[in-house]
Amino acid sequence: MSLSRALKLSTALLCFSGAVAFPSASAPPESAQKGVLIVVSPVSNDTGIKMVPDNAHPFQAPGPNDQRGPCPGLNTLANHGYLPRNGIASFEQIITAVREGFNMEHDLAGALAGFAMLARGNAFLDLVSIGGVSPLIPVLPGAIDGPKPPGGIATHGRFEGDVSMTRQDAAIGDNVHFQDSLYDELLLYVGKFGDNSPVTGNSSIVTTKVMQEFKFARFVEDQIKNPVLQYHAGRNSLSYGEAAFVLNFFANGTDGTLSTPVMGSFFRNQTFPDDWYRRSSPGNITLIGQGVDEIRNAHPVPPGANAPNGTYVLDAPINSCSDVYFNLAVENLPASYSKATGVFKQNVDTLLAAVAKAFGCPVIFPTGLSGV
Ligand code: HEM
Repeated sequence: MSLSRALKLSTALLCFSGAVAFPSASAPPESAQKGVLIVVSPVSNDTGIKMVPDNAHPFQAPGPNDQRGPCPGLNTLANHGYLPRNGIASFEQIITAVREGFNMEHDLAGALAGFAMLARGNAFLDLVSIGGVSPLIPVLPGAIDGPKPPGGIATHGRFEGDVSMTRQDAAIGDNVHFQDSLYDELLLYVGKFGDNSPVTGNSSIVTTKVMQEFKFARFVEDQIKNPVLQYHAGRNSLSYGEAAFVLNFFANGTDGTLSTPVMGSFFRNQTFPDDWYRRSSPGNITLIGQGVDEIRNAHPVPPGANAPNGTYVLDAPINSCSDVYFNLAVENLPASYSKATGVFKQNVDTLLAAVAKAFGCPVIFPTGLSGV
């Protein structure tokens, strides 16, 4: 179906948030800051099925000063102490936590954690907030990404973006916290397109078909409602990738199916469900890429953005090693990282390499040309 036809059709349809050593709360003078060298951990052998959480990781609701944000996966891990419960984590901690909790494969985890650190963290101190701005994360050395402290992954642009499943677009509403109304909409799609289960009932199993229809509906809604919608190659694929995360990482590892009570536990309560097992094999970028293609190809929405007149304008092809890599890691990250020196520079290089590796691309230094 062509995009314009898809948009018309859908217009018709519409007429219907541990233990680590933290730096002090105020930013010390840059000259006094001591960087933390990032060391990429080796690939772990602990990648089989296992019950999660274990006894060492009970649920505890976050306290008022604990950071939580737009990623239900990271929020859940922090609520169980797989990540520091204050929501401030290092690159290495994130890689370990997503393997422990969800069996996310090492290089995929490295790419996401590396990108998050470069986009919205402090790569000099190896700290990123899984929520918003934190007094524990000071301005970058030399203020090379501006005078404000890094915003955390909840900050709109670079990583957090439009057409999420359970968060609104930043220009429309709350882009950080779980939104009941959007989740109810997802449940409607499960009711309509989901599979039956003898245990959880008819139309209670979340399938690819559910995500194909729901993700398209979410695009159509936001394309109409959000005058500044941005759905460029990076965000476009991340957005479909998050739907593939739901299917592949939230499903119970015992039988690979995802029921609505289990999905609700992650999205609504940000806690691991009872009798839940992580997936039986590491989920890597190939698996998620296949999921992206399957979901997006049902109703293709190519990369683009809304023009001031409300029309969705498609982007020109990028013709790089990977459009997604180029848009995310080259166009979306600040060119001023070229001014980093010493430990800071070593960390930037390590993180850029982690992102490029997952895409099988050579490192291309950021240009920040997208300006978001
Ligand atoms: C490895 C490190 C990870 C990082 C840095 C990360 C970061 C993020 C960010 C910034 C968002 C917001 C994007 C948006 O605007 O929608 C997000 C959303 C999401 N993440 Fe993560 N994430 C990570 C791991 C995971 C894992 C392991 C899972 C699943 C087990 C997961 C599941 C999701 C889902 C389902 C969404 C979409 C929420 C929605 O659309 O309502 N993430 N993540």
